[in-house]
Amino acid sequence: MKEKKIVVELKNIGISFDGEQILDDLNLEIRDGEFVTFLGPSGCGKTTTLRIIGGFTQPDTGEVIIDGKNMNGAPPYKRQVNTIFQRYALFPHLNVFENVAFGLRVNKVDSKEIEKRVTAMLESVNLSGFEKRQVHSLSGGQQQRVAIARALVNNPTILLLDEPLGALDLKLRKDMQNELKNIQQQLGITFIFVTHDQEEALSMSDTVVVMNEGRIQQIGTPEDIYNEPKNAFVADFIGESNILDGIMREDRLVEMFGHKFDCVDIGFGKNEPVDVVVRPEDIDVVEPEKGQLSGTVSSITFKGVHYEIIVDINDFKWMIQSTDSPAVGDVIGISIPPQDIHIMKKSEYSGMFGDYSTFSDEMELIGDTEITGEDET
Ligand SMILES: Nc1ncnc2c1ncn2[C@@H]1O[C@H](COP(=O)(O)OP(=O)(O)OP(=O)(O)O)[C@@H](O)[C@H]1O
Ligand SMILES: [Mg+2]
Repeated sequence: MKEKKIVVELKNIGISFDGEQILDDLNLEIRDGEFVTFLGPSGCGKTTTLRIIGGFTQPDTGEVIIDGKNMNGAPPYKRQVNTIFQRYALFPHLNVFENVAFGLRVNKVDSKEIEKRVTAMLESVNLSGFEKRQVHSLSGGQQQRVAIARALVNNPTILLLDEPLGALDLKLRKDMQNELKNIQQQLGITFIFVTHDQEEALSMSDTVVVMNEGRIQQIGTPEDIYNEPKNAFVADFIGESNILDGIMREDRLVEMFGHKFDCVDIGFGKNEPVDVVVRPEDIDVVEPEKGQLSGTVSSITFKGVHYEIIVDINDFKWMIQSTDSPAVGDVIGISIPPQDIHIMKKSEYSGMFGDYSTFSDEMELIGDTEITGEDET
């Protein structure tokens, strides 16, 4: 298959605010029609990156290239880009039709053409018949769709969306995720989407860009990011993971807690210390004597589709998701299929994540708080 052309390129982008480095040597290529998501914790620089692409913020260093042209210094209206901001603001005094038509009127588009384009756009966001409604009379999801229609009606080649679904409840959010994805595929527009919700990122994107503290941690398909995280930060941020210290004894053999596990990873140094990721859903609960390791169940929580079991093995608290339901205090064995063990290089994030002892401490803390709260009332 022919690779689509690159529509946005960020080269060595850096910016600091008040002496603090906010983005550091950011490099990224985005292709025509791609759905790219910036994913990362609050304050990691997602909005700033989006604003740099949109032309609302100028970087200190580096180049922003859109459609092959260097856009440094160019204002937003000179870029083939439209933006839906984190707090999208509709015009309260205009009805739905006029909100969507606004940009076209500003650009002096012929009124017949406006009629045609706004009508078609409202149809594609499922708002036909809402033309005369005042925006304050709409539900959150409907307002959101007006904001999307307003951005899309200008035929942008690239749409920047900064947490556009953040304000919606879970059900509506899911519906809008599907709708946005459909609109994006129908119109073939490049979407650059920001979220700090990992599930949203995985389910909507062609490409996920995981960021932390102003630096890109990994760029890849949702499957890559989930199955082959580059470091402990990515493994921890995307889904639940147990992250363990290991030593690569040889190709396809890693040692943890003095026990050797078969795995499928190759190319590490002999006896190289590594981080090992095991997803909670990939661990089998077995009889203690049949397990590769065994330990005592310290908590179990029903989650609907599975139980979440915390088991203490040699002072490391593993999280297991299973349909089995052992009792607290039971000794169980665990067994991990070789293909479900993922080996990572050690990084600056090693040792910071992936042991659920912090998880149980937090649970206890929350429990304590509730009791104090009751005392006060
Ligand atoms: N104009 C500014 N002046 C000073 N600091 C700023 C400015 N804009 C952003 N920052 C800082 O830069 C960092 C990154 O901000 P940014 O808004 O890009 O984060 P974000 O990833 O979008 O976070 P969130 O998920 O909370 O929206 C933050 O520490 C923020 O306080
Ligand atoms: Mg933001």
